[in-house]
Amino acid sequence: MSDKLYIFDTTLRDGEQVPGCQLNTVEKIEVAKALEELGVDIIEAGFPISSPGDFNSVVEISKAVKRPTICALTRAVEKDIEVAAEALKYAKNKRIHTGIGTSFYHIKYKLNSNQDEIVERAVAAVKYAKKFVEDVEFYAEDAGRTENEYLARVVEAVIAAGATVVNIPDTTGYCLPQDFGAKIKYLVDNVKNIDKAIISTHCHNDLGMATANTISGIINGARQAEVTINGIGERAGNTSLEEVVMTLKSHRDIDVDSAINTKNIFKTSRLVSSLMSMPVQPNKAIVGRNAFAHSSGIHQDGVLKNRENYEIIDPVDVGVNESSISLTARSGRAALKHRLNLLGYEMEPAELDVIYQKFLELADKKKDVNDEDLQVLVGKKKSEDAGKIKLVHLQVLSGKSVIPMATVSLDIDGEVFTATRDGNGPVDAALSAVKSLVRHKVRLEEFLVQAITRGIDDLGKVHIQIENRGKLYYGFSGNTDIITASVEAFIDAINKIV
Ligand code: KIV
Ligand code: ZN
Repeated sequence: MSDKLYIFDTTLRDGEQVPGCQLNTVEKIEVAKALEELGVDIIEAGFPISSPGDFNSVVEISKAVKRPTICALTRAVEKDIEVAAEALKYAKNKRIHTGIGTSFYHIKYKLNSNQDEIVERAVAAVKYAKKFVEDVEFYAEDAGRTENEYLARVVEAVIAAGATVVNIPDTTGYCLPQDFGAKIKYLVDNVKNIDKAIISTHCHNDLGMATANTISGIINGARQAEVTINGIGERAGNTSLEEVVMTLKSHRDIDVDSAINTKNIFKTSRLVSSLMSMPVQPNKAIVGRNAFAHSSGIHQDGVLKNRENYEIIDPVDVGVNESSISLTARSGRAALKHRLNLLGYEMEPAELDVIYQKFLELADKKKDVNDEDLQVLVGKKKSEDAGKIKLVHLQVLSGKSVIPMATVSLDIDGEVFTATRDGNGPVDAALSAVKSLVRHKVRLEEFLVQAITRGIDDLGKVHIQIENRGKLYYGFSGNTDIITASVEAFIDAINKIV
C-alpha cells in the first residue's frame, strides 16, 4: 500500500492573503465545507491574532467542519498562541501552527537576533503551544534559504519540544527542485528524532517551481504538502493542490498518495475562483479552461482515436464531466439547476428563479452559455444582493469626433441619484459619473478587460482594483456590454468599502 500524503490546505490563510481575495466568514465556511468534501486532511483556517475577522472565521469554521483538523497560524509569540488556542476552542481536531524565521536574512534583518536565540524561541513557542493542544506544527520560515546544518538543529530541537509536524517552507520560492529535495533528505538522514514528526513542504511559486519542489520534497521523505486551490497565495502563489494530487495519481512509481476525492477538484476550483473573484488562467494545469481542450486538427484526430494519445489525465477524474455541454435560451430551469449543482452551487427555488431570468437574458444575447458565464451570473447576483449601491441606468455617447459622455443613475440606500460626466472615453466618462455620486474618494489602480476568446458575443469580463484611504478593493463583473461591465465592476469594488 502507498504511503499517505497529508494534504494541508492553506487557501483560507496563505491564499486569502492575496490583495482583493478577502472573504467574509460565511464565504470562508462555504470554502471550508468544500475542502472537507474534497477530502483535505488539515484546513489552515486563519491567523487569529491578525484581526477580529480572522479570529471569528477560525471559530466558525471550527464549529462548521468536523472531519479535517482545523489549524490556526501564529508567530512564535505567547499572545498569538493564546489567541489561536481560544479561536480553536470548538474544533474537534485542532492544531497550532507556530514558527519563526531561520534564514540568515530573517535572523539578522527581520528578527535582529542570532541562531542560538532563535532555537530557544522556537522551542519555547512549541512548548507553550503544547500547553493548549497536542498537535503542534512548527514552521522554519525561509527554510529554503536556511543552511541545512542549522535547519537540522532547529528541527531536532522543536521535535524534542513536542512538535508533531515540521514545516520546511520555501517562503521566497527560491529553491531548485533537486536542492529542495536534498534539503528534505538531509533532515531525514541527520535529525535523529525525525521519526517522531511528519515533514511538511510549503513551497511558493516565485520561480514557477512550487509544484516541482513539493514533489521533490515528497520523493525525499516529506509526508505532508501545504497547498492551495488554484495555487493562489502570496505573490506568485503557493503550490496548487490539484497539481500535487494529480501528479501523484499520474506517477504511481512515487508510491505516495493522498485521500483527495479528485472528482471534486474542478468544482472546488471554480467555487474558490468565483468567491475570491480570482480568475483561473485558461492554461492553468488541471483546472484551466483549456486544460483538456484540444484545438489543433492533429490533436483532435489523435484524441478521437484514443484519448490517451494526448491526455495523461481523464477529465472525468477531476470532475470535468460535462463542461463541453453548453446551455442555450431553450434550456429549462432543471438543466440550469443541474449545471449549477455540478459547479458547486446549491440554490433555493427563489434564488434559482432570479438566476434563471438572468440566464435567459444572457442566452438571448449569446448563443451558448458556458460554465464561466454561469459563475459570473451567480457572482454578480451575490454582489448585487450584498451591495448598498446599485446601477439603475447607464447611457453613453461615444464615437469619432464626439466628446464621450455618460449618464449614470445609482440607487444608493434606496434613493436614486443621477449624474452626467464627460471623459477621455466612454468608460472614463461613466466611472467619473459614478465617482461624482458616491461619497468615498476612490482612485482606480487597475483595470483589466479579459480577452474575448470564444466569439464576438462572449461576456466581457472586467476586473478592477481601486484604492480608498490606503486600502485596495477588488471588483468584478461580466456583461456582453463592456462599458456596463466596467461600471458594475467599479460599483462592486466601491460596495466593498462599506
Ligand atoms: O511561506 C511561509 O513561510 C509561510 C509560513 C507562515 C508557513 O506562509
Ligand atoms: Zn507561505
